[in-house]
Amino acid sequence: MNAPTMKGLPIQAPSYVKNAKLIAWVAEMAALCKPDAIHWCDGSKEEYDRLCQQLVDAGTFKKLNPAKRPGSFLAMSDPSDVARVEDRTFICSAQKENAGPTNNWMAPAEMRATLQPLFDGCMKGRTMYVVPFSMGPLGSPIAHIGIELSDSPYVAVNMRIMTRMGKAVYEVLGTDGEFVPCVHTVGAPLEAGQKDVTWPCNKTKYIVHYPETREIWSYGSGYGGNALLGKKCFALRIASNMGRDEGWLAEHMLILGVTSPEGKKHHVAAAFPSACGKTNFAMLIPPAGFDGWKVTTIGDDIAWIKPQADGTLRAINPEAGYFGVAPGTNDLTNPNCMASLHRDVIFTNVALTGDGDVWWEGMGDAPAHCIDWQGKDWTPQIAKETGAKAAHPNARFTVAATNNPALDEAWDDPKGVKIDAFIFGGRRSTTVPLVTEARNWVEGVYMAATMGSETTAAAAGQQGVVRRDPFAMLPFMGYNMSDYFQHWLDLGKKLQASGAQLPKIYTTNWFRKGADGKFVWPGYGENMRVLKWMIDRVEGKATEGVEHITGVSPRYEDLNWTGLDFSAEQFATVTSIDKAAWQAELKLHTELFQQLAHHLPKELPETKAAIEQRLAA
Ligand code: GTP
Ligand code: SPV
Ligand code: MN
Repeated sequence: MNAPTMKGLPIQAPSYVKNAKLIAWVAEMAALCKPDAIHWCDGSKEEYDRLCQQLVDAGTFKKLNPAKRPGSFLAMSDPSDVARVEDRTFICSAQKENAGPTNNWMAPAEMRATLQPLFDGCMKGRTMYVVPFSMGPLGSPIAHIGIELSDSPYVAVNMRIMTRMGKAVYEVLGTDGEFVPCVHTVGAPLEAGQKDVTWPCNKTKYIVHYPETREIWSYGSGYGGNALLGKKCFALRIASNMGRDEGWLAEHMLILGVTSPEGKKHHVAAAFPSACGKTNFAMLIPPAGFDGWKVTTIGDDIAWIKPQADGTLRAINPEAGYFGVAPGTNDLTNPNCMASLHRDVIFTNVALTGDGDVWWEGMGDAPAHCIDWQGKDWTPQIAKETGAKAAHPNARFTVAATNNPALDEAWDDPKGVKIDAFIFGGRRSTTVPLVTEARNWVEGVYMAATMGSETTAAAAGQQGVVRRDPFAMLPFMGYNMSDYFQHWLDLGKKLQASGAQLPKIYTTNWFRKGADGKFVWPGYGENMRVLKWMIDRVEGKATEGVEHITGVSPRYEDLNWTGLDFSAEQFATVTSIDKAAWQAELKLHTELFQQLAHHLPKELPETKAAIEQRLAA
């Protein structure tokens, strides 16, 4: 075999890279993308520091004041590249039905023909970084390896925080190990002598998945889930396909541990749509009245969940860091998160203060002056006059999980943790009550499948409109949504057959608003009151609550109110069931089921009919 070459020169893989398929693929991609150089990332601190300095020199990063935020940087993106682009995200399965009606689809051959000219020469004038990463603990039987080729050093340094990235991955990969190939380009080649911009990207964007061959190709964006391909592209869209084939789940869920004063520990996995409170809930600090209770974080965004021989479900967090929403985070809403951000953080699109620190809306008192996320002067007065935000609403921080003071001791355990309950929670100003327990697995799947949520700045497009977001997976489902519902139902049957106690399923809504347009439920740490009720139910200790059309909810007297001034009337505002609102809601479920008619499990319309009957009674 001829040695792979680039521009006629042999590809110089480091001696520890022994996987022939990988080396051949890198050579093939280099021949296509035509970078000026190839850098094989080793994942060392020294390499990280060098790349960060390079980003500072290029003007992409500003180094923050080391006295205020040691080891931390701020990146300000191009104003056109600030969030995931759902309308440019594609599932290119061989059969259109396998992508399903909720995904953009193009035939693989047609997409390859579309991407070929875009990728041809796309890395000219740039370095191609070879980023080896493991989703899940290195070498664990449930972990999977990916290699991302990217022309963005910003991506390389973020991947070192978000994943287990570096040399050790090659040892696990060996000579013939499997990896998911992920190619990423900002789509901004540089002609000879052309000066670079601080955030290169392209108006044209394609975030493409080939589920059958398990490949990811991303073009034109440098931001978040569009570019850090281990996260949504691999750990959700590709992994959901792996999970379907192999009998496990890849979910948009946080995982937390909750320990009672008696020392009894449970684990909960919760799916909330983007920017709907996963990071907050995963780092919750119990409020007054909950002495001795402790919440610890296993993960804040993604869970890989595998059924065990004994009928239990065990979950791992495939990530190693948090790419979290900055706006709204403060010492009251999420003290653990604020403590995680003291050092070694990459901030993107927050504001820069005069003393070299960061600020965002909802952090606390506004500075008299700062530089906003677009590099412009910002003052409270300007904000008042123009409505300009200092930080972009989808501004984010990238930080290692090990910075989190509430990190669970088992967060890195390859065996994962046993899941006792699932929560599905949308952002709804009306209709959906604070908390409901499904009477059984099928009813829980129904509530998850029909979940609606108001859209947020986490994705480009209109904000605040209610859309159906089944399982909080709408933007992340790698195959047909109805087949995914079936996969959940099948799993429930399988677990039940083993005789194990199934995890309970809850829905929550922290976001009901009052007549004044304000959130009624205090949320954040106070969500512990709801979490404890769930744990009591799991333990069989809770009072019976009240049964209604979609399940069981607590009565006012079923929750612990010590330390909180929240009246029975306010409780009624967040828990009441409005019949007319639910009639309208069920119409939307009908529309969803019409859209998903192909392969829709019959259990779902059956469950709907039962709810309609209860509503009519
Ligand atoms: P992704 O990282 O996008 O998947 O989102 P996430 O679910 O981790 O979102 P995150 O926890 O970062 O929540 C972001 C937004 O939700 C912020 O604006 C918070 O202020 C708001 N939020 C979080 N928890 C609560 C809550 O209990 N009540 C209310 N009203 N808002 C909340
Ligand atoms: C989300 O949007 O759900 C995120 C952020 O977690 S991103 O990685 O950009 O998708
Ligand atoms: Mn997310």
